[in-house]
Amino acid sequence: MIKVAILTLSDKGSRGEREDTSGPAIERMMKKIDAKVISSDILPDEKALIRKKLLSLCSKADLILTTGGTGLSPRDVTPEATREVIQREIPGIAEAMRYKGLKKTPFAMLSRAVAGIRGKTLIINLPGSPAAVKENLSVVLDCLPHAIEKIQGCQKDCAHRFRGKPGMTKGINIR
Ligand code: MTE
Repeated sequence: MIKVAILTLSDKGSRGEREDTSGPAIERMMKKIDAKVISSDILPDEKALIRKKLLSLCSKADLILTTGGTGLSPRDVTPEATREVIQREIPGIAEAMRYKGLKKTPFAMLSRAVAGIRGKTLIINLPGSPAAVKENLSVVLDCLPHAIEKIQGCQKDCAHRFRGKPGMTKGINIR
């Protein structure tokens, strides 16, 4: 069972001026894998606060999914806070999300989302809108259990997995 922490970054959401629908969208998608949401928080777009929260979540969660603050406005600092926390980046996760997102909207290139590892925790930034959350998360969802078992030191051989067998329903579908 993957322990998941959701962190929504939004100035308006944190002041109660906007309903957070992206956090609940993540929570719904987590039901598709063997995951349990252990916390869901909303913070303003403040780098120091985000950094501190990420660090504390790393001691409890296998996976932290952030939503919001990945764009280009001056207040968007989620990638910067995440980079200060991760010890190893996984560029392919963000690359795959942007690549697949571009087939839906050219605005996908405007997300500066990053993904990486701190200790035994995987952190992935997702953009802020619920539609973008669903689109981005669906790209990586099938990879998450395997990514997390590897991060946690699983020695199992993985060469045979998700090789695009005919009729494959799982795995990444990057077309
Ligand atoms: N990616 C996908 N797949 N679908 C989207 O609708 N929205 C984009 C982009 N990524 C979008 C997407 C937009 S409009 C922006 S501004 C950036 O994500 C950053 O969003 P954020 O600042 O809410 O994190």
